[in-house]
Amino acid sequence: MKALVLVGGFGTRLRPVTYTVPKQLIPIAGKPLLYHVLDLLPDDVEEVVLATGYKADVIDGYVRTHPVRWPVRTVPEAEPLGTGGGMKNAGDGMSDPFFLLNSDVIASADLEAMRTAHAARGGVGTMALFEVEDTRPYGVAALDAQGRITAFVEKPEPEDAPSRWINAGLAVWSRTALDAIPPGRPVSFEREIVPGLLTQGVYGYRFTGYWDDAGTPDRLLNAQRLLFEAGRGGKLGIPRGAFGTGPVATMDGSRAAGASFGPNVTLAPGVTVEAGAHVANSILMDDVRVERDATVTDSILGPRVRVRAGHRLVRQVLGDGAEA
Ligand code: GDD
Ligand code: MG
Repeated sequence: MKALVLVGGFGTRLRPVTYTVPKQLIPIAGKPLLYHVLDLLPDDVEEVVLATGYKADVIDGYVRTHPVRWPVRTVPEAEPLGTGGGMKNAGDGMSDPFFLLNSDVIASADLEAMRTAHAARGGVGTMALFEVEDTRPYGVAALDAQGRITAFVEKPEPEDAPSRWINAGLAVWSRTALDAIPPGRPVSFEREIVPGLLTQGVYGYRFTGYWDDAGTPDRLLNAQRLLFEAGRGGKLGIPRGAFGTGPVATMDGSRAAGASFGPNVTLAPGVTVEAGAHVANSILMDDVRVERDATVTDSILGPRVRVRAGHRLVRQVLGDGAEA
């Protein structure tokens, strides 16, 4: 089976970081968001196809230099085609069925079990569903007693939401779903295509545990916390010569002797945190420099950001090269 991963979208809610770094390559809990998504795939996947758009070349360059367990191919769009248009554009040669993954979600879902459930029940698709309080930002499914989806509404008003089970952005679809997408124009798969497929049998695969869409600063930091709690944080502990609680995911070549750390921090390659500085619940991207006695809390710092000595930074999102 192959996997089609939707990697377009501008990441507007994570600006200014996403002016230079696509959302999917922001490191959380020690690796880019996209790589946490790919971790969910079973080992025997034949090929991963990334439907890219915004910053396609950056993503292509990254996956070539940081290989994953499967062959990866990127298929860029000249202009944004939406989720359905991106699927159609990248769908040539897709397996039947195939995995469809959003690239901005973290989850405790078992995709192997979802594939088995799909094979057992048949139908054109099986969507992973997670129960949330506030359904407004998501696609929401109504289910019958057999787990078949009877209605699907994208981003409904609360009074129109048919349940609290939302599309987790992880699914198995047969090629029939691709055939249903008109070519050559932007298409929302969730709004224009999924409702029409329900008569052919689309099932819900409900899971519990953790899930988040990491599309805003708060949610990105929340996703990082969930991954750390789930033990998916890669190299843990605190950097050499530093102190505090952590966990800190220290990627190659970052230094923090004499600094202190609270929980849930990622230090991307080349980060320097000087002595006396303190960092908690934050993401420090490549070559960030936090000078002596500065404090960084609940913040996302893009590449090459500099935090001056003694400065206190709280709940900030700073783009490439900014000085604070
Ligand atoms: N190739 C391509 N082209 N990909 C795109 C495009 C595009 O034009 N627009 C968005 N994407 C990708 C995003 O990178 C993301 O991985 C996925 O498609 C979904 O887009 P979002 O913009 O993040 O959508 P959303 O979060 O509002 O809603 C979607 O995800 C929810 C779960 O997080 C929907 O699938 C909802 O039904 C779902 O509940
Ligand atoms: Mg999203």
